[in-house]
Amino acid sequence: MTGSQPVLTMTGISKSFPGVRALDGVDFRLLPGEVHALMGENGAGKSTLIKVLTGVYRTDHGAVTLGGAEVSFSGPMQATAAGVSTVYQEVNLCTNLSVAENIFIGREPRRLGAVRWAEMRRRARALLARLDLDIDVNAQLGTYSLAVQQMVAIARAIDVEARVLVLDEPTSSLDAGEVAQLFRVMRQLRDDGLAILFVTHFLDQVYEIADRITVLRNGRLVGEYPTSELPQLGLVEKMIGKELRALERLDEQSRHDAAAPVEGAPLLDVRELGRRSAVARFDLTIHEGEVVGLAGLLGSGRTEVARLLFGADRADHGSVRVHGTPTSLRNPVAAIGHGIGFCSENRRAEGIVGELSVRENIILALQAARGWLRPVPRRRQDELVDRYVRALSIRPADPDIPVGNLSGGNQQKVLLARWLITEPRLLILDEPTRGIDIGAKTEIQRLVAQLSDGGMAVLFVSAELEEVLRLSHRIAVMRDREMVAQLTNDQSVDADRIMQTIAAGAGHEEVPS
Ligand SMILES: Nc1ncnc2c1ncn2[C@@H]1O[C@H](COP(=O)(O)OP(=O)(O)OP(=O)(O)O)[C@@H](O)[C@H]1O
Ligand SMILES: [Mg+2]
Repeated sequence: MTGSQPVLTMTGISKSFPGVRALDGVDFRLLPGEVHALMGENGAGKSTLIKVLTGVYRTDHGAVTLGGAEVSFSGPMQATAAGVSTVYQEVNLCTNLSVAENIFIGREPRRLGAVRWAEMRRRARALLARLDLDIDVNAQLGTYSLAVQQMVAIARAIDVEARVLVLDEPTSSLDAGEVAQLFRVMRQLRDDGLAILFVTHFLDQVYEIADRITVLRNGRLVGEYPTSELPQLGLVEKMIGKELRALERLDEQSRHDAAAPVEGAPLLDVRELGRRSAVARFDLTIHEGEVVGLAGLLGSGRTEVARLLFGADRADHGSVRVHGTPTSLRNPVAAIGHGIGFCSENRRAEGIVGELSVRENIILALQAARGWLRPVPRRRQDELVDRYVRALSIRPADPDIPVGNLSGGNQQKVLLARWLITEPRLLILDEPTRGIDIGAKTEIQRLVAQLSDGGMAVLFVSAELEEVLRLSHRIAVMRDREMVAQLTNDQSVDADRIMQTIAAGAGHEEVPS
C-alpha cells in the first residue's frame, strides 16, 4: 500500500464562512486500498473538508485532484458520477419513499425508460444482505429507526462504482453488531482497492479499522500518521491540542457511584404500558434522582420506549402514575406538563431548527412550556443560554448565529441545552452523546450525573454500553421490542452480563422500589 500514488489529494484547502475560518490551508491525501480516519474535535472542520471535496462548498483556495487530474465538482451528483461516493453526517434520505427507492433514487434500473421494480427490489435485497440487514425493502423508510436509515444510506453509497468512499460518522447510531458488519464490508471494499475516508468520534473504531489517520484542529492540519505509530493517548492530545491529564481528571469525576441505592420517591410509574407492533407491555418505575439506563440492540425498542414515556407515540395499553397520581401521557404537551423532557436521537427531524439562532433553539422548549404569551425576558434568556453554552462548551460560543451553521456535534449540544434549561423532573435522553467528541462527551456525562444527584430523574438511552454502565443506577434491557430484564447496576453487572441478557433474554429481576 505504501508507495502507491494517492487516488485523491487536497492541497492548501481553505474555507471561510462569515466570521469563521473553517479550514485553513489543509492538505489531505487518500491512498487506494486504505481506510483513512479523519479525526478532530467537534467543529474542527471534518465535514467541511468533505463538503469541499464533494462540491457542496466551493473552496476559497487550494486544489483537489482525483486520479491525478484536477477536479472541481459543482455538486454531490457530479462527485458521485466521478467516483466519489459519500454518506453525509446528516443522513439525507426520503422517509416517505420505500427502502429500495431510497437506495436507487436517481439511478433506478430501467428498461425502455420504465423503472424495473422487481429488479430494483432484488438488488436492494442483495445489497442489504451484504450489510446483514433483514428488512422489508418495500416498506417506507420512515417506519424504521434512524440506525436502520443510516445503514440504508451506507448501502446506497457502496452500490455505486466508486473509487473513493466517504463515510462521515456512519456508525454514530449503530450498535456493536452493526458496526462489525459495516467494518467487514469496509475491509472487503478496501481489499478491492477502494479508498475509504472515515470520520468517527469512537477512538476504538479508529484503531480497529483505520490504516492511517489525519488530525485536524481548529481548521488546521495537525498531521498525518500511520495508525500503528500513533497511540491512542497521542491521538487525543493531537485532537485537543493539550495534554490528556485534565481530561482524565474529568473522567474520574463523572464516574457515578452507580451502586448507591436511590432513596428518592417514585416519580414515574408505568404498568403494562405498551403499543401494538412497537413495544410489548412493560412495567417501569423511575425514582427521583435515579438514572435508569436503557440498553439493547438496534431495533430492540429502546427509542420506542422513550417515545411512549414522552407521549410522542401514544400507548394503546397500560396505566401511568406521576408522583403517585394516575394520569396519561397522551401527547408531548401532557408529558411536558408533568415535567418530562425528551431529547430526541433525531436532531434533524425532531429537534433542531436550522434557521433559528442558537439562542432561539435553546429557549424553544422553555418558551413552549411557559406559553408563547409569556416570553422569557431577554436578560433571563441571556443568562441561561450563556450558562449552557459554557457548560456544554458549545462552539462557536455565539448565541446569535443560525444553529445550522454549527458542526453536527455542536448542534447536538444545543438540543441537550434546550431540555436542560427547562429543569425537567424526568429527562429522557435518547443517544445524547452521539456524534460528540471525547472531551464534550465526558462533560455531558458529568452533567447528567450532577443533575441526578440534584434530584432529577433520567432515562438514559444509548447504544454505548460503557456509558450506560457508567451513569445508570439501574439498567433496563430490551430485546425484540420487549423489556426482558431490569438489573440493579452493582458489582455483578458489566458489559458481558448485559450482552448475555440481550442474547438470552434472561428472566425478569425484581425491581427495587
Ligand atoms: N454552512 C456553514 N455556515 C457557517 N459556518 C459553518 C457552516 N458549516 C460549518 N461551519 C463552521 O465551520 C466549522 C467546522 O465545522 P464542521 O461541520 O466541518 O466540523 P466537524 O469537524 O465536522 O465537527 P463535528 O464533529 O461536530 O461534526 C465550525 O466552526 C462550524 O460552525
Ligand atoms: Mg461533522
